[in-house]
Amino acid sequence: MPSNSIDSLLHESRQFPPSAEFAADSIAKPELYAEAAADRVGFWADQARELLHWHKPFTQTLDWSEAPFAKWFADGKINVAYNCLDRHVAAGNGDRVAFHWEGENGDTATYTYSELTTAVKKAANVLIDLGVEQGDRVAIYLPVIPEALIAMLAVVRIGAVHSVVFGGFSSESLRSRIDDAAAKLVITADGGWRKGKVFPLKGAVDGALANGTSTVENVLVVKRGENDIEWTDGRDTWWHDRMDAASAEHEAEGFDAESPLFILYTSGTTGKPKGILHTSGGYLTHVAFTHKNVFDLHPETDVYWCSADVGWITGHSYVVYGPLANGATQVLYEGTPDTPHAGRWWEIIQKYRVTIFYTAPTAIRSFMKIGRQVPNEFDLSSLRVLGSVGEPINPEAWIWYRDVIGGGKTPIVDTWWQTETGGIMISALPGITSLKPGSAQVPIPGVKIDILGEDGTRVDPPNGGLLVVSEPWPGMLRGIWGDPERFVETYWSKFSSGNTWKYFAGDGAHVDTDGDIVLLGRVDDVMNVSGHRLSTQEIESALVSNHIVAEAAVVGAADEATGQAVVAFVIIKSNQKDANTADEAVALLKKHVSEQIGAIARPRQIFIVAELPKTRSGKIMRRLLQDVAEGREIGDTTTLADTSVMQIISDKLR
Ligand code: WT7
Repeated sequence: MPSNSIDSLLHESRQFPPSAEFAADSIAKPELYAEAAADRVGFWADQARELLHWHKPFTQTLDWSEAPFAKWFADGKINVAYNCLDRHVAAGNGDRVAFHWEGENGDTATYTYSELTTAVKKAANVLIDLGVEQGDRVAIYLPVIPEALIAMLAVVRIGAVHSVVFGGFSSESLRSRIDDAAAKLVITADGGWRKGKVFPLKGAVDGALANGTSTVENVLVVKRGENDIEWTDGRDTWWHDRMDAASAEHEAEGFDAESPLFILYTSGTTGKPKGILHTSGGYLTHVAFTHKNVFDLHPETDVYWCSADVGWITGHSYVVYGPLANGATQVLYEGTPDTPHAGRWWEIIQKYRVTIFYTAPTAIRSFMKIGRQVPNEFDLSSLRVLGSVGEPINPEAWIWYRDVIGGGKTPIVDTWWQTETGGIMISALPGITSLKPGSAQVPIPGVKIDILGEDGTRVDPPNGGLLVVSEPWPGMLRGIWGDPERFVETYWSKFSSGNTWKYFAGDGAHVDTDGDIVLLGRVDDVMNVSGHRLSTQEIESALVSNHIVAEAAVVGAADEATGQAVVAFVIIKSNQKDANTADEAVALLKKHVSEQIGAIARPRQIFIVAELPKTRSGKIMRRLLQDVAEGREIGDTTTLADTSVMQIISDKLR
């Protein structure tokens, strides 16, 4: 389990109430909780009307008659891109900066809301010229550059559906995502900047389309890396050529509130990633509401920066849709935190006078390791709200974040949510909640969370249990692309009964004696490495797809820097010829996993073993392997088919 343990957190009693000044100017008012509690569905209807522009107002708020398939605001019509762009221009805010972009190599660009609107209108026309129609899927495989946002917004502006694939995923992973969604178009770049070098992207797209059976008709290529690429005439086309030729006129049409907005693939407990489907009106309501209230956004004066890549849900909800729907000014950064120097992020905060900063505990812990002297060299006094997301933040990291980055004064919101939830579900509201390190604390207004035991009854604080969402919420996933049964089975089968539907999140949690929720990590075969979600089975499948491997088992082992790390136990075939020594086998397999899934899935350690611990029914007991990987005393082995196996494994590894 990651950094939180019930024991250490039960003793966490430090509290940080909001300062009087902060509370006085807070966007969120304490009444929100009472309003939402009195009429949860009506509360969301109010938010949807207040925060968004509707091409046609809705009259129904929630239709839960086909649960767990929800419909929110179903008879309303909306255009998500219009909400993020045109309406701000129409309201007289066209000259407000939408984002300052900072390339890793020192390139910069600034877009006002007017300029961004024009760019997206042009890009929408480019897509139409390429034959993209309402409902078509478009894969986007780009670095964090302005074109990534422009492409996403252009796709949704014409009612098409994007599937953004993180640029760190391999050609193989890209291929399976393109195929699953049957994408018509891929938007990519020649390359992007990372760690001082250009990493190629177009080559991976070529690889993904190489078998010739793909549904992809065109590849639209942004010039960014200036690296050499191969070109397929008739299929490949340059973004800049198309944009230069495109008309800047495009009127946004309203689409049904439930029309698909995007698919985002995420790892589950089985080998195949799931295409999480989000739709338009409910999603945008949820992300706009949470972005505004959780970060206390004052759009006229704040400069917001979320360090996530647009390839993850955090990038979708809190780089693209939430901030732009709220008319925020933000910072975008293409590269890694330590290029060209260890203070790059702090330099960016200083340069743009960032006021709200949102990042992951793994980043904070790596900065802690380098030491406070690096951030201390920069003026970070503009910061007034800090956020954390992706994994539990341990109290030490929380305090360091507040003291060293936040000058000992900023509130920190620890936000719990998932790709599936669309937006933040559990978090303090900084002008209201008295903050407590190590706890995500309270459900946001309008969200109902319970902690249940295996038997489905509520557990009493401070006992641990399983986290469920007990009522539908507007940002909820609407399904798994192409697999309604898996959707019901994965999320709704564990605790639902009769007409009562409860969403099972896959996380363990407990409520402490103050009523605050403390997250305890995943309870399923999903790992969390640097805030990124990986499936043990997906990596096992990647390992056994290599011909030298007979069997493989993967566990997530606690890791100080990354929360969890991938540790694999592998049995090598006796008759293989490609790896003569264990070291060679390990090197070959690490590379193989990177190629199959992406560098993020590369195991920290691979142990070559002769046997794996299995029950009599043949199930691998990962719990025991986790004990070994974390250097603990090995737990109960009595259910093993062969009880000596663990002894042999642990003797060998010592
Ligand atoms: C899983 C979801 C939500 C965007 C990033 C990850 C873990 C997320 C927290 C937090 C403890 C957290 C959970 C969750 N998680 N935020 N604040 N405290 N755990 O999205 O890839 O869909 O992963 O991340 O285990 O289930 P994701």
